Amino acid sequence: MKLKNTEILNNFRSPAFPGSFFLSFEGIEGAGKSTQIISAKDYLESQGFRVLILREPGGTPFGEKLRQAILNSKTELEPISEAYLFASSRAQLLTEVTLKELNTPGTVIIYDRYIDSSIAYQGIARGLGIDTVLNMHNVFPLNLIPHKTFYLKISTETSLGRQRVRNAPKDYFESRGKDFYENLIAGYDMSCELFPERISIIDGNQSLELVFEDIKEELNKLIFKKDEQ
Ligand SMILES: Nc1ncnc2c1ncn2[C@@H]1O[C@H](COP(=O)(O)OP(=O)(O)O)[C@@H](O)[C@H]1O
Ligand SMILES: [Mg+2]
Repeated sequence: MKLKNTEILNNFRSPAFPGSFFLSFEGIEGAGKSTQIISAKDYLESQGFRVLILREPGGTPFGEKLRQAILNSKTELEPISEAYLFASSRAQLLTEVTLKELNTPGTVIIYDRYIDSSIAYQGIARGLGIDTVLNMHNVFPLNLIPHKTFYLKISTETSLGRQRVRNAPKDYFESRGKDFYENLIAGYDMSCELFPERISIIDGNQSLELVFEDIKEELNKLIFKKDEQ
């Protein structure tokens, strides 16, 4: 996979707030994001951090309205509409919440999905192209990326199996077939290629405990050994 404009990658940066961290969790439905985020929060709080969990679209009054508009949409939105809706919610959440909160030392902001979901969902699965998605993010505050992203990688089979167990009504994105998930996984793989240092690939097919062990190891590296990041 080749980006048309690789220069663009240089414009992405992590926000620099001493003693505070910006994290994201990624993966297809059922990967274990929500579950592992709670474990990470508990662990980080036990280490004295203040932890906030954020989701997109949402997290601000404007974002929550967009969330309802997207997830309850009965019509298939154009991929570009979808991408701009997410981007506008993201920009508001970054300035209204994330940047303000990170300003307090000892804060960890955890996003349940962030830019790699845009790359995988809108960029690849919906066919917009990675260049388009990255170009849209090539402006403040959308050019801010997490210090560390945990990609919980599972197979389509694991995802569908866990969704069957969960048995909840499917939303806009969840009511898709196997091909859609295969494309998402390919999209996430591309994100991992583009941002190899930021993204840690975690084998999400393992038991809950083993998945968290891997996450904890990376958290310790980030927070306790490389505090200057
Ligand atoms: N490693 C795992 N092993 C077995 N079941 C898991 C694992 N991770 C998550 N699950 C289960 O799969 C379902 C989806 O997990 P969840 O954390 O909600 O995933 P996500 O937020 O990524 O969609 C839940 O019922 C959860 O208990
Ligand atoms: Mg979840």
